[in-house]
Amino acid sequence: MRPEKLKEGVFWVGAVDWAIRDFHGYVTPRGSTYNNYLILDRDVTLLDAVKYDFIDISIRNIRSLVEPGLIKNIIVNHIEPDHASGLAEIVRLAPEATIYCTEKGRQGLARFFDISPWRIKTVKTGDTLNIGSRNLFFLETPMLHWPDSMMTYIREDKLLISQDGFGQHIASSQRFDDEFIACASETELDDAVWDYYANILMPFGSIIKQKIEEIGKLGLEIDMIAPDHGVIWRNPKKIIRMYLDMAGGKAEERAVVIYDTMWQNTGKMALHIAEGIRSEGLDVKVIKLRATPLSVAIKELWKARGALIGSPTLNNTLFPSVGEFLTYLKGLRPKYRIAGAFGTFGWAGGAVKETTEALKKMGLEVFEPGVDAHYRPSAEDAVRCMDFGREFAKRVKEYHSKF
Ligand code: FEO
Repeated sequence: MRPEKLKEGVFWVGAVDWAIRDFHGYVTPRGSTYNNYLILDRDVTLLDAVKYDFIDISIRNIRSLVEPGLIKNIIVNHIEPDHASGLAEIVRLAPEATIYCTEKGRQGLARFFDISPWRIKTVKTGDTLNIGSRNLFFLETPMLHWPDSMMTYIREDKLLISQDGFGQHIASSQRFDDEFIACASETELDDAVWDYYANILMPFGSIIKQKIEEIGKLGLEIDMIAPDHGVIWRNPKKIIRMYLDMAGGKAEERAVVIYDTMWQNTGKMALHIAEGIRSEGLDVKVIKLRATPLSVAIKELWKARGALIGSPTLNNTLFPSVGEFLTYLKGLRPKYRIAGAFGTFGWAGGAVKETTEALKKMGLEVFEPGVDAHYRPSAEDAVRCMDFGREFAKRVKEYHSKF
């Protein structure tokens, strides 16, 4: 894709990755983009590089606007390789350029590159850089997404370059939110936002809230938000509202049943439980883990107020795919959800207890006791599962009313 103008003199010069389906283990069915931006001002300034595999495309885009050797400033908002692995190629073409990043960014760059010949200036929140007719304002955003992260605000354009924040994994020929909605749908865009937030930013909800408040206190008026992935927000109010809602615990009043099964017996329990949930008038989705990418299961859990996790007992412990799911979930530090456990066992139990303990350790509201069945659910077990689902649905509704 060719450069796209965001504002007079400010251009997208990134690359679209139509083919990526596995983003370090996270499934990206819509592909992604690596966005970076070029400002043509007295001092030509590049904001971020792109992934190494795509740097030639970005350089071609830059070259169509300006000779890369004229780049005077390179802003490194984030050092993760999907943005910074192509940086050395840019520096090779613009050896006189000064790199601006946070102190953590400088330390991180030193782990990825030989930075001894590079000119690096570290910045912190409140520092500014005049590049001619524009002033860049830096805002540190540690842990959004890595400790090095920062955002750059272009005051005269009311434009926030937000690196990972407000991103989505979408490959498209449309660069802007309104264009994408016109071409695809708002539902698809919203789903991509939920998916990205759930799998990447879920642990950082309180920081997100703080940073959005800080932007307000600093009086940074925002007319456009340009993240390093996906579409650029010409309607920034929408994405800011979505982020505040998600950080504050927004979920849909429904339940998700996430399970795996060896001989279809935990699977049968899942269906009985789902029937019980539905009989209380609550929407429910059933997800079998080995049939569903982990990141999709996480997104579905994050969208729903309540989740039940089912596992067979294998070798006195969890079934591996359920263990993997719980490990991933634990790292994402979910909040504001109610969850419980169910499962089967043969000669000794373990899965329901372990799942319940794992959910408690995550600090979730736990629905207990869980329900289990010996080998295969009998007719009586089916009734117990239905009842378990009904009671869970009631608790989900009650818990949801607090938000
Ligand atoms: Fe898109 Fe944290 O990198």
